Amino acid sequence: MTQIIVIDLGSQLSHLIARRVRELNVFSEVYPNTVPYDTVKKMKGLKGIILSGGPSSIYEDSSPEIDYRILKLGIPVLGICYGHQLIARHVGGEVEGGAKKEYGITDYYIARDSPLFHELPREQKVWMNHGDIVRNMPEGFHITGRTENSPVASFENDSGTIFGVQFHTEVTHTDHGFQMMNNFIYRVCKAESDWNMDNFVDEKIKEIKKRIGKEKAIIGLSGGVDSSTCAALVTKAIGKNLTAIFIDTGFMRLDEPDEIRSAVSSWDLELKIIDSKKVFFEGLKGVSDPEEKRKIIGELFIREFEREAREIDAKYLVQGTIYPDIIESGSTDNSSTIKSHHNVGGLPEDMDLLLCEPLRDLYKDEVRQVAKNIGVPFNLIRRHPFPGPGLAIRIIGECTPERVSIVQKANYILHDELVNNNYYDETWQAFAVLLPINTVGVQGDARSYKQVIALRMVDSVDAMTANFTKVPHNLLEKISTRITNEIPHIGRVVFDITNKPPGTIEWE
Ligand code: XMP
Repeated sequence: MTQIIVIDLGSQLSHLIARRVRELNVFSEVYPNTVPYDTVKKMKGLKGIILSGGPSSIYEDSSPEIDYRILKLGIPVLGICYGHQLIARHVGGEVEGGAKKEYGITDYYIARDSPLFHELPREQKVWMNHGDIVRNMPEGFHITGRTENSPVASFENDSGTIFGVQFHTEVTHTDHGFQMMNNFIYRVCKAESDWNMDNFVDEKIKEIKKRIGKEKAIIGLSGGVDSSTCAALVTKAIGKNLTAIFIDTGFMRLDEPDEIRSAVSSWDLELKIIDSKKVFFEGLKGVSDPEEKRKIIGELFIREFEREAREIDAKYLVQGTIYPDIIESGSTDNSSTIKSHHNVGGLPEDMDLLLCEPLRDLYKDEVRQVAKNIGVPFNLIRRHPFPGPGLAIRIIGECTPERVSIVQKANYILHDELVNNNYYDETWQAFAVLLPINTVGVQGDARSYKQVIALRMVDSVDAMTANFTKVPHNLLEKISTRITNEIPHIGRVVFDITNKPPGTIEWE
């Protein structure tokens, strides 16, 4: 297989670049900026290198750098945003620090033909997000495009091997970004179109077989698409040596243990359901801080898994971790922590089990493609995502059994109405959150002072960005009426109209 690598200089979008390359049927993975020159030099089938954007200014003391010998390998390089500035400064271009910022959609003009812009209009809209500006390029380079504020919005060297673009080709807001990436991959790098989901599945099965060998493994099955897909994939690799464990934390959806039992009953997979409610409620007693909750839950999960693993002598813990869990947990070299996903940032340091996470490079929609490819039942594939910490992060404040029961019922009613009104598949994820406040109302001619449920419904592709779903008002009314009628503790229902960013999907 040919491949194009992405060198991560700290952008939240680095992985999206690799994903775009894979969408164009070429294998791609993200490497940290510290990847050694020799490692890159020896990579098999390497056809191109993309340097990502990043939040730093190249003038900051600790701003990320690369081993610049990579630029001399003769393999085409494309620098995006910070990557563009880094190349410009290294080759002797003039980069102005802290100049006028360009943020958002900007008019861009192509100044000269380039294989990168093959058959593209001369004027187009691109998405910018930067402070430093490239002012000039040295001999051996020419300027291929500009915007009002960036005289060097794109450049190319004379031999056509090094390219820079100040804007982000990987986001959909850049009109022809996808075509530019296509041009880079096929016209410049001459990569072959030889990567697809079948290859991914075959490669992963080989990799898992090699990694786990004859050892035993357990997987934490939550009933969501990630862990179910992971279980199906790993079963293909190691068969009966995989045991699925469902930890009933007490923070699961109503009837989840029964649903999961029936979902996997037809699979050739042993399932153990462990009632750990007491442990989790005790662990979270008096805890209100979201990060603390996530860390405690992450640790308790591992302790439960360790005990179960000892019983069957399993050495490996398989997790359905996906890429957004990793990036938001701040687990790449230059990224910041948004929240510690229980299965990444919430893991304890002293853990006995070895981790195996075959889906960690994929986004949710790619996991769904793998699921289809390996025959995971459709009713599991279409399920809305549900976070590992469960309802604990949908209860703002302390998690008591009474508050769990309220939020469980609210989530059940919401789900029921979405299904009954054929709206479940119209939204990407929908859930109810219990707020830590009481408000005044009037019920049966008397004053009430009750709690509040917030409804959150979002449209997304990969969970990295999301827009609130524009739900019909009559459906919202039905849901709200049922929640206030059927749950005696609730006197008010509100609807969350925040996109991601600036909000995240979950409230905690
Ligand atoms: P956020 O809230 O970060 O969520 O915008 C993005 C997606 O991830 C889910 N989520 C989690 N999934 N463990 C998980 O397995 C977690 O700790 C976790 N936190 C959030 C969330 O439901 C959404 O689909």
